[in-house]
Amino acid sequence: MLTREFSSTGPLQKYVVVVLLALISSFFGRAGIAADARRAPFGHLGDGTPVEAVELSNSTGMKVRVMTLGAAIQSLFVPDRGGSSGDVVLGFDTAQEYFQDTHYFGATVGRFANRISKGRFTLDGHVYVLTTNDHSNHLHGGKRGFDKVIWTLDLARSGSPACAQFSYVSIDGEEGYPGTLHVTATYCLDDRETLTLDYAATTDRPTIVNLSGHSYFNLSADVAGASAMDDLLQVHASRYTPVDAQLIPTGELRSVSGTPFDFRQPTVIGTRIRDGRDPQILHGRGYDHNFVLDGSGSMPRVAARIHDPRSGRVLEILTTAPGLQFYSGNFLDGTTAGKNNVLYRQGDALVFEPQLFPDAPNQPGFPSARLNPGSVYRNTIIYRFSIDRRRSAEMKMPGVH
Ligand code: GLA
Repeated sequence: MLTREFSSTGPLQKYVVVVLLALISSFFGRAGIAADARRAPFGHLGDGTPVEAVELSNSTGMKVRVMTLGAAIQSLFVPDRGGSSGDVVLGFDTAQEYFQDTHYFGATVGRFANRISKGRFTLDGHVYVLTTNDHSNHLHGGKRGFDKVIWTLDLARSGSPACAQFSYVSIDGEEGYPGTLHVTATYCLDDRETLTLDYAATTDRPTIVNLSGHSYFNLSADVAGASAMDDLLQVHASRYTPVDAQLIPTGELRSVSGTPFDFRQPTVIGTRIRDGRDPQILHGRGYDHNFVLDGSGSMPRVAARIHDPRSGRVLEILTTAPGLQFYSGNFLDGTTAGKNNVLYRQGDALVFEPQLFPDAPNQPGFPSARLNPGSVYRNTIIYRFSIDRRRSAEMKMPGVH
């Protein structure tokens, strides 16, 4: 009927009908599935400083809260195989607890994610001395890294995707770094199951930069009931960077072949984490190592896939970065009570930090961390969730017994 009427109209009417149909379908499409952004206060620090948060949510039951303290992910709700949504990241219920803690739960880490040996590096012949906060080394930006500062919430926009953008200006000399650095951290949630983190930075003097996200995942959403060590992990890396006893890379790029670091096929994390024959496992008390990701390019590529057979949740991590620090939560020692007063212990969570290699400023063989005025530093990280309906027993995979 519509077709007949349509074919009997002139070119102008045809154009009007086409535009109207496009508008109607776009309206209904968006109304049904667009994601939502909502701003709300998130309490205060001990000195009274207010902290704000944005909650991005979509119609599939996914919901993420990001706060101005550390531009950090405070909670991340994702549906399981039965459709019920649970919080898959560790953290705290209040901003002040994040401020006092030293584990970087959910935070944006910088100016330099990971370690810089002895807190020193040379740039254009000048030796820069940074604050040290991990043995005699510099870790995740120093004593007052980006996780401990209040970011400005520049934008919170509903749509498809819904986005929140935070910014921070790190002044010349902060924690010892040269150059005033303008940084943005942008979070976008689409109407499916994808959360994109996009870090960008510019400088007014040559400097170094390495930004990443530090979420602790327990995909079961039940830290007290399920160990993250039972998850299957796949990492697309043929090499990793071995470290010394203080977790500083030796400079070597070592093959993962025949070692507990070979995750090229999906493997249960816990099966090799106690392999005391490997000195690298001893140095890290488990996994706390940078994997050299296979492939390269400016488009995000899949770096890792984590599958929790209990809940069915799957997390794929895509990135543009050359490295992926995989940290198996080894310093969680039962002395920190997190959300709902649950104590966090070793193996409760997994941290994946796509980034440049640790100590890159002191390692000529590693990709450079240098940023010049006029250039833009970028690191895009995508958390893509889905459901795998198979349970462990149905899977024939290495490490599954
Ligand atoms: C990083 C490091 C770990 C540890 C955590 C914070 O992921 O690689 O060694 O310092 O941060 O506890």
